[in-house]
Amino acid sequence: MSQSQTNQRRILVTSALPYANGPIHLGHLVEYIQTDIWVRFQRARGHEVHYVCADDAHGTAIMLKAEQNGVTPEQQIADVKADHERDFADFLIRFDNYHSTHSDENREFSSFIYLKNRDGGHIATRPVRQLFDPEKQMFLADRFIKGDCPKCNAKDQYGDSCEVCGATYAATELKNPYSTISGATPVEKESIHYFFKLPDFAAFLQDREKSGRLQPEVANKLDEWFEAGLNDWDISRDAPYFGFEIPDAPGKYFYVWLDAPIGYMASFKNLCSKNPALNFDEFWKEDSTTELYHFIGKDIVYFHALFWPAMLEGAGFRKPTAICAHGFLTVNGQKMSKSRGTFIKARTYLDSLNPEYLRYYFAAKLSGTVEDIDLSLDDFTARVNSDLVGKVVNIASRCAGFINKKFEGRLTASCAEPVLLNEFIDAGESIAVHYEHRDFGRAIREIMALADRANQYIDEKKPWALAKVEGKDAEVQEVCSVGINLFRQLMVYLSPILPATSAASASFLNISGFEWESREQLLLDHTINAFQPLMTRIEKEKVDAMVEASKENLMVTPTAAPFSAAKPAEPEQTTEISIDDFMKVDLRVARIVNAQHVDGADKLLQLTLDIGEDQTRNVFAGIKSAYPEPEKLIGRLTVMVANLAPRKMKFGMSEGMVLAAGPGGSDIFILSPDDGATAGMKVK
Ligand code: 2FM
Ligand code: ZN
Repeated sequence: MSQSQTNQRRILVTSALPYANGPIHLGHLVEYIQTDIWVRFQRARGHEVHYVCADDAHGTAIMLKAEQNGVTPEQQIADVKADHERDFADFLIRFDNYHSTHSDENREFSSFIYLKNRDGGHIATRPVRQLFDPEKQMFLADRFIKGDCPKCNAKDQYGDSCEVCGATYAATELKNPYSTISGATPVEKESIHYFFKLPDFAAFLQDREKSGRLQPEVANKLDEWFEAGLNDWDISRDAPYFGFEIPDAPGKYFYVWLDAPIGYMASFKNLCSKNPALNFDEFWKEDSTTELYHFIGKDIVYFHALFWPAMLEGAGFRKPTAICAHGFLTVNGQKMSKSRGTFIKARTYLDSLNPEYLRYYFAAKLSGTVEDIDLSLDDFTARVNSDLVGKVVNIASRCAGFINKKFEGRLTASCAEPVLLNEFIDAGESIAVHYEHRDFGRAIREIMALADRANQYIDEKKPWALAKVEGKDAEVQEVCSVGINLFRQLMVYLSPILPATSAASASFLNISGFEWESREQLLLDHTINAFQPLMTRIEKEKVDAMVEASKENLMVTPTAAPFSAAKPAEPEQTTEISIDDFMKVDLRVARIVNAQHVDGADKLLQLTLDIGEDQTRNVFAGIKSAYPEPEKLIGRLTVMVANLAPRKMKFGMSEGMVLAAGPGGSDIFILSPDDGATAGMKVK
């Protein structure tokens, strides 16, 4: 066995499973790009690596989304999965398997792990009183209940905490509660729930934490949780629920977060069924000597560092080697925002820009810690252009022309600068250490220092000047052969980040690839192919186009129906107005007496609004994506701006605006006043 084979590691790697209810956006991509780079690096080092993922397909949100889209949950998750896979592939994220948590393998493993834990005494049942939507006939999670804060009476607060006074409370304490799904007043109802007894594993989890495998920030968080004490975890949900029925509890379903991480195993099992050389048990048995890494966002550490290893322990499986948590993404220093056009979907990015630009920029920002990373669009443009195009690709383009034109593509038989080349080769050791620790930013700093060094060498030697001097051909060939070899070294170090450029470079250099060890054999007496432009500069206009297109994703026609982006997850920067400005706005309760499609308009509905005193108003509102069946709006009350200057639109005159909330797409909610309002009532 060769040295490299004896040191070969066997590694299974996962990224968190994205929910099957929405598109991939740049925030998600931090993680998939980070993981993919690490996987490609490990492979370049000669290790055996399997990278699996899946869609996270269960839960209430996905069930409701399917209902809203008028499709079955199965159809909903199939559609989203196809979109997710296409987005990932186009970002050059190469999974060995992409599965779904709604799969046979996952059903089996979920049952198995549950039953093992039950037989080990780690499952308890007890009744839970919860709010229930009598219209939808379903129990309501806190985020589907709103009402008045029990402390400060602020209106429209969610079921767990008040955004106005900061109070936390039980949903049952809200005053005037209502279901955000149907609008009905919820009632309290009791049902039996199943619990995973996490405290049974407290000592086990604390020992694991002490073993020092966790990132320091994550370990600190765990210490806080241990100090506060671990609680039983509610793993059941009542029907209707899109998920797996609990094997010994008909009508009860596993909570989505129970079967989500089990989806990692299920996806790997599915891979094994396609590849007979792979043995599932070798990777998952209790005493496995293989390695298992979960790449996740810092918000889901609790699930991965506590519940998940405890469930595995209770069921007799191996535990993760490490959890690799990363921070969130900000864009231009702020939370991603739909109104600023910085909530950028993967597809919107791809419509304008090369995926490798973002892979490089994220890599340059990632440090292996849980710190948030910022995508500053100006810095992104400047950095990619200067580093990749200006420094790296430039080395090849400066040297290739001479080699091809003057020497038929032939590189010299010996290296004119062995010391310089050795410096580049040796740097591979420390660059590899940074990659291993996911400190890609540091790896890139070293790589760019080498690129500067290579350009400096070419600047000093000036092959373009030598080429004009009679009798200097041999020197031109020497210098350019050194340049090409330096470029090759750089591509070895960059290839995990830039798979497409690396493939194009391999064909230009006429070599099979950029395995880490291959850098030790210089390209001597070797023929290269014609140079092809490897990467072009980022054009600012394309970045601007992407931001504009992301604003359009908001879909609202500003003249017809602006809406306050009221989703708490994404606080928006708004322009302040004075109370006097506000007093000028005539907000009225209006009854929707007619709602219909507008011929030739993709986004608009035409609403006829009764605003009292026998007056009606015609309004075009950009809400079709959320209300594909406009007749359902007829008879409902809404709030409108009644004194907006009428505006002539392509389809007719719009005489006001209706107020709606939500992030856009199918999530737009016409604001309905409480029961008891009548058309024409002033809102202030
Ligand atoms: O937070 C999320 O987006 C979850 N869908 C991640 C699941 S990761 C794993 F546990 F499945
Ligand atoms: Zn309050």
